[in-house]
Amino acid sequence: MATTPPQARIIVFANPKGGAAKSTSAIHTAWNLAERGRVLLIDTDQQQDAYGWYASVVDPEQPDQVPFHVHRQADDKVYQAEIKKFRQEYDFIVVDTPGKADRIVTRAVFTADDVVVTTVPAGTELKNLPDALALIEQVNELREQIEQPPARPHVLLVRMDVRTNVGTKARERLAEMRLSAMRATIPHRVEILDGYGRVPRRDYYAPFVEELLGGADVPQGGQAAPAAPAAAV
Ligand SMILES: Nc1ncnc2c1ncn2[C@@H]1O[C@H](COP(=O)(O)OP(=O)(O)OP(=O)(O)O)[C@@H](O)[C@H]1O
Ligand SMILES: [Mg+2]
Repeated sequence: MATTPPQARIIVFANPKGGAAKSTSAIHTAWNLAERGRVLLIDTDQQQDAYGWYASVVDPEQPDQVPFHVHRQADDKVYQAEIKKFRQEYDFIVVDTPGKADRIVTRAVFTADDVVVTTVPAGTELKNLPDALALIEQVNELREQIEQPPARPHVLLVRMDVRTNVGTKARERLAEMRLSAMRATIPHRVEILDGYGRVPRRDYYAPFVEELLGGADVPQGGQAAPAAPAAAV
């Protein structure tokens, strides 16, 4: 009897707005997921920030100290064929995308299981969220036409100053736009800001990864916000 080969879960970080912590989130997520399986991080941004971080921490003599593989691919024509192959070799594929509208973003969303739109909880940034989510919706319409299940959209609030009420304000703003964010949020931390050459701490992104994978209802000890609907749209 033929068996279907295992397929990696593909998690894409996307927001055409620059500086929304996509690369940072991709790196931290890959680091956390490496506890759960084989992980590949694909950097599709010509800026190569995720790869640059990798090069800043990896010891070429002992590359296994970084617990996942990193691949660069900014060419949207090659991306899809590569994904097909990688899907059978890894348990998770984490994709960092550029902070601009680009064909590679559409391509990445087209093959994603989850698309995480990261956003700083500031009004000017939240205002752009509907555009980022509209792209996912458009791609999902195409996927429906070829009977492919839709990518799951998620909104992740990042760089939160947990001493203030910016989180509550951001959630109110999202509700006005009929959107909601994940319960887990990422705190603003200097050690994340200054992350080059640094191995990430797992705990900042652990509640997010748990929630994404459907683990804990209420993440313990993390930066979980009060209950909010988990679906983004
Ligand atoms: N939780 C955080 N705390 C502090 N600084 C952060 C945090 N997350 C990200 N940053 C910083 O914010 C800046 C932008 O982050 P990052 O490069 O990950 O964004 P990006 O969305 O990938 O940007 P681009 O669109 O240019 O690719 C970086 O200087 C990064 O170190
Ligand atoms: Mg980036």
